[in-house]
Amino acid sequence: MKTWMVALVIALCMAGCQSPTPNTVDNPTRIAIEVDSADPERLLRFYFGGYGSESGQDPFEAGLVTKEGGSYYLDLAQFTAAVPTLAAQLEGRSEMDDDAIQAFWQATYYEARSIPPSLEAFLRVEADSSIEWFEVEVQGVMTQARRRIRVPAEAIRAALFAYKEAGEHLLYPVGTTFIGEHLEADTVLETTVMRKRGDGLWDFATYDASGSLVPATAARPRALKSPTQCVGCHFGTRMFEPEKSFPGEASPGPHGPREFHVPMALRNSTITRFFDEHRKRSDTILGLYATLFVAERIVQRSEGTLSANDAALLDTLGL
Ligand code: HEC
Repeated sequence: MKTWMVALVIALCMAGCQSPTPNTVDNPTRIAIEVDSADPERLLRFYFGGYGSESGQDPFEAGLVTKEGGSYYLDLAQFTAAVPTLAAQLEGRSEMDDDAIQAFWQATYYEARSIPPSLEAFLRVEADSSIEWFEVEVQGVMTQARRRIRVPAEAIRAALFAYKEAGEHLLYPVGTTFIGEHLEADTVLETTVMRKRGDGLWDFATYDASGSLVPATAARPRALKSPTQCVGCHFGTRMFEPEKSFPGEASPGPHGPREFHVPMALRNSTITRFFDEHRKRSDTILGLYATLFVAERIVQRSEGTLSANDAALLDTLGL
């Protein structure tokens, strides 16, 4: 055998030895995933970025998901290593269409993210009584009930101090928690929460009236699956009422009023335009927290009750 032939045989053998197990129908090494979304990569980053990494990671960089010729693939060996307990649910599959992958996410996301089974456990950090909360009540699209939403004021301040640097976007610190309670009279019917992960995306969860983790809201007129439907709206571009008409009043929706329960003094059109918060939804946050928080600080300034720190904040924003 000629030397070049020997070299060729060795080269072919080495290439053969290094290539991964072939992807066959009987023994798939990866799953072709079809996602119906204007931005499938963002959805894949959200879901698979959270599987196997507590803080969240880029699943493309981690090799968990790959893109080839416009199609996306989930690597089964990587997935099994990352979340062994869920791998069995993918056994024998070589492709998943949008319905199948959404059903898989809906069934496994809480477990993959280790979302605590009780609201009390989820809100352990937020139980600290020294936290100053910013609170707003609204009747909007998520439920016919009145929603009381809370977020630590410090998280809004951090987003505002960084607003200009972030290219006029409101980006909340990692770990920020939004709590949205659905209220009938003063009874809490259920609680929806979002908490920002280390990779900049947010976990979504729903707890029922007794504080147990549940796979959907019981909200009227329609229950919302958690997290798959949450993501549908929060990652989307659709404008909702009453945010869209603010600072004007919104017309009632088909199931009741769409309304912000805030004093007239907080309906500040200059500040609303300044942030354009609902349309920009910079951090997949849809409400008007920075708008209302700043409008409230402007009222405090005119009343002479503004703190020095918040005066500095308004200065930073040039307001
Ligand atoms: C129909 C669209 C829609 C769906 C579905 C939806 N949301 Fe929202 N969400 C909104 C809008 C609009 C707001 C702001 C006004 C409000 O709170 O009603 C909001 C606000 C929130 C907030 C407060 C932070 C923010 O973005 O303003 C949390 C927390 C939240 N939603 C959690 C969830 C969870 C959990 C689910 C899934 C069970 C969910 N949402 C499903 C539209 C939606």
